[in-house]
Amino acid sequence: MCGIFGYVTTNEVELGPILIEAAKRLTYRGYDSVGAATLNNGRIDLRKDVGKVDIVAAKYNISEMRGQRGITQLRWATFGEPSQINAQPHIDSDGDMVGAHNGNVVNNVELREQFIAEGMTVRSQNDGETCVHAVERYINRGYEFIDAIRLAYGDLEGDYAFVIGRANDDKLYAFKKGSGMVVGLGAGFTCVSSDLPSILPLTREVIRPQDGEIVTLWADKVEVRSVKDGKQIQRMPETVTESMDAVQKGGYPHFMLKEIHEQSQVARELSHVLNGNREVDGLVEKLKNARHLYFIGCGTSYHAASVGAVYFAQLAGKPVIPVLAPQFIPQYAPAVSYEDVGIFVSQSGETKDVLNALETAEARGMACFGLANVVGSTLTKSASLCLPLCCGYEISVPATKTFTNQVVTFLYLAYKMANKDVRELDRIPELMEQTIEMVEPQIKEIAKDINEWNDMYCLGYGATYAIALEGALKLKEITYAHCEGMLSTEFKHGPLSAVSRGFPIIFVAGPNDVPLIISGINEVKVRGARTIVVAEEDARLRANADDVIVLPKSDPQISALLGVLPLQLLSYHMSVMRGFDPDFPRNLSKTLTVD
Ligand code: AGP
Repeated sequence: MCGIFGYVTTNEVELGPILIEAAKRLTYRGYDSVGAATLNNGRIDLRKDVGKVDIVAAKYNISEMRGQRGITQLRWATFGEPSQINAQPHIDSDGDMVGAHNGNVVNNVELREQFIAEGMTVRSQNDGETCVHAVERYINRGYEFIDAIRLAYGDLEGDYAFVIGRANDDKLYAFKKGSGMVVGLGAGFTCVSSDLPSILPLTREVIRPQDGEIVTLWADKVEVRSVKDGKQIQRMPETVTESMDAVQKGGYPHFMLKEIHEQSQVARELSHVLNGNREVDGLVEKLKNARHLYFIGCGTSYHAASVGAVYFAQLAGKPVIPVLAPQFIPQYAPAVSYEDVGIFVSQSGETKDVLNALETAEARGMACFGLANVVGSTLTKSASLCLPLCCGYEISVPATKTFTNQVVTFLYLAYKMANKDVRELDRIPELMEQTIEMVEPQIKEIAKDINEWNDMYCLGYGATYAIALEGALKLKEITYAHCEGMLSTEFKHGPLSAVSRGFPIIFVAGPNDVPLIISGINEVKVRGARTIVVAEEDARLRANADDVIVLPKSDPQISALLGVLPLQLLSYHMSVMRGFDPDFPRNLSKTLTVD
């Protein structure tokens, strides 16, 4: 989500092409706006706007920009709508310095109010500008530049990376908190970026700064200092030897596995953004007052909507109708009115089935809101308010991190509806990390055991029902096996006849549903099925099932969310064992813009 790149060289050169190419290498992270700034002999040249890199670059002649230092930024809107003023980089009140960030400054709103009260010129809603003013504040109080940056670091809360430079200087400065940041050293230049792939075409000599460190970049050297005491820290550059492809996948063999492992990080970013979004309370009021509430989506997004519907009922006592988008039109649209509210859910924000349902609902006067990952997509523009999923770019066709952030968003809204303390949800990212760590070795073994089967079932109940549907969809999508997701109690009403010796049946059990799931397990076990349960540790399950994949202890709602992680991993490992490419399954595409 967002990307920054800074470049320092000895003399004034044509920096535009270097900045444009670096920006293009960051586009995979997802963005809605682009900006570039060059610094030279006391002068800052800043050009930025909403749009694709090529279009903004052509419109503003970015390739002609010259300077001794340059910064480019790709913005993925969270604080402030996509607009030219909110695009990055940003200048300080007097235009003496320029900076850009990626990530989120969670106390953005409070800091902006302080800066305005202190007399600074705040031009945008964007938290990147807040980072610049955070340094300006201490310059105004008489501090040296490096000390002003150290103090600003303490004021800026959240996960982000930041680069800043002064017009009258020959250096850039950068630091990070939580987020990634890499510094490159080349012949006659240094650079800094949000990630390694954007640096590698320029140099393979890199330094990876840590949180709590400030990097100063000259054309021929970099210096790392501690934020705490300002003392210099020795850091030897390392030489990167991996291929570009391996680096883009962050060391993982496939984007899907990388995105599975990114889920805790994006959940953390999402909660920062939701906590800082002042529109959420207004949305919650509308949801509370709705006559009927619909959650609408397709595929994985529909499954997230269905989990969300259970959360709303269980936590807030609010019934919700989860609907597959195309079915909304014949079944519900004739009955909806302005008193009803719909939340349209989509990773891409471009799924035609979802947009058709949205258009029909709007024509009937229904209040339409959205959850989307791709900012600037049609859904984000068409819905009255669209909450961002904050996952960055999801490259792999099977949705993973966008599903979990959709579910986390619904859980957050359900907590708000129920007046529960949303801080309780802060433990989710850590629980996700624990889950992946605990289950992955066992999942690989189970994948080997059941890989010969081309038919299986995935069963759940309550909040885990839609989790089972999602697990079954993932298995179908990338292993090409037939896996049916079903309510566990429905199995006896027909599918039970399919069971033969060794037939794999996966159960996802919520902590309150163990006795019911045990009945289901025994029903199929006595007929020869291989029973695999995803659940919190429970002696009763151990005594009955063939395999228990243990989730960390939490509560019924969070446990359901965690339950999808082993299913994602199982489908991934089975797909790879079968020799398929899980990132690009046959016959499918990431965005479905057809009826
Ligand atoms: C999920 O793994 C699938 N690729 C697919 O079901 C997807 O969720 C569906 O096509 C909806 O897409 P959207 O979220 O972009 O609207």
